[in-house]
Amino acid sequence: AKYSNFCNQQLSHFGILPFNKRPNLLLIRYNKDLIIVTVNELRNRAQFNARNCKEVKDKYGQTENGLYYLNTATGGVYQTFCDMTTAGGGWTLVASVHEDNIYGKCMVGDRWTSQQGNNANWPQGEGNWANRKTFGTVEAATDDDFKNPGYYDIEAEDMSVWHVPNNTPVNHWNLAAIMRYHTDRHFLHLYGGNLYQLFHSYPVEYNVGAHLSDNGPSIPIVYDLGDKESTKNVYDPYSGGEIEGGFISFRAINHERAATAICSGVKPKGGNVEHYCIGGCGFFPEANPLQCGDFTGFAWNGYGTHIGFSASKQMLESAVLLFYRQCTMH
Ligand code: G3P
Ligand code: CA
Ligand code: CA
Repeated sequence: AKYSNFCNQQLSHFGILPFNKRPNLLLIRYNKDLIIVTVNELRNRAQFNARNCKEVKDKYGQTENGLYYLNTATGGVYQTFCDMTTAGGGWTLVASVHEDNIYGKCMVGDRWTSQQGNNANWPQGEGNWANRKTFGTVEAATDDDFKNPGYYDIEAEDMSVWHVPNNTPVNHWNLAAIMRYHTDRHFLHLYGGNLYQLFHSYPVEYNVGAHLSDNGPSIPIVYDLGDKESTKNVYDPYSGGEIEGGFISFRAINHERAATAICSGVKPKGGNVEHYCIGGCGFFPEANPLQCGDFTGFAWNGYGTHIGFSASKQMLESAVLLFYRQCTMH
């Protein structure tokens, strides 16, 4: 009602019918802009026959960031966010990793590690990095964990990652992000086309190997917001010596043979990966259970203190949004 009042006044300057006389028009706010769309435009988004956002862009000419419906290979339908602007656009949001309570170690809400405790007898924990379970909703992707069928259904070649402060509404994600980057070397071709496949080759499991020698791949990134130095600065100062900015790394293992899932923005050069890599297996032996959890040991030296092995408050309180971009069709 607030916007429609504002809008009716503005529109009357241009001699356009007020909104209450144009029920087929909707005023929506996107970032700082007010956009007028017809109801039909939004409804049509439910009718695209597309498996990912790149298809929505290429086949249906859609260029606006926002929510779209996508199909899976087997006929499932789900709604997610498409980034249609970064580096040519066509990025599909497939997951978010959110830390609801860094003090709850491998408890409720730790869907990307274990919600049932730190336990050597449950070495994979939830196993969600390599299964078809889905959870959450797109509009709550910065309020809680999110995983949609695109995670395993899309055959992608590149990834994009946004770190967005918790509880940010969808239309502000892009502006509110503290770090954004993407890969551009089509690395997923080498790992089966998505993270579901990659993590089958590199299981996120306790005791599958040793730090550094058995880590998964580290892939160079192109920054869309931030740089190598700002990346190092959001993580803890003690790890500064064992990380290199400018990469995304997968299945990094720590000194105690616990596996993490994603080191966002960095490449590990040591074994204290639990302070800068997120998600992981169901057992972290060091100082049991203080490192088990979606944001692992990010608050080892206090909450958001950014001293010792503690990450910055910004990093601790931002969800990590994972996007895919499908292979270019020839
Ligand atoms: O991950 C940190 C741990 O390995 C060493 O911490 O505080 O015992 O030196 P601290
Ligand atoms: Ca979580
Ligand atoms: Ca350690």
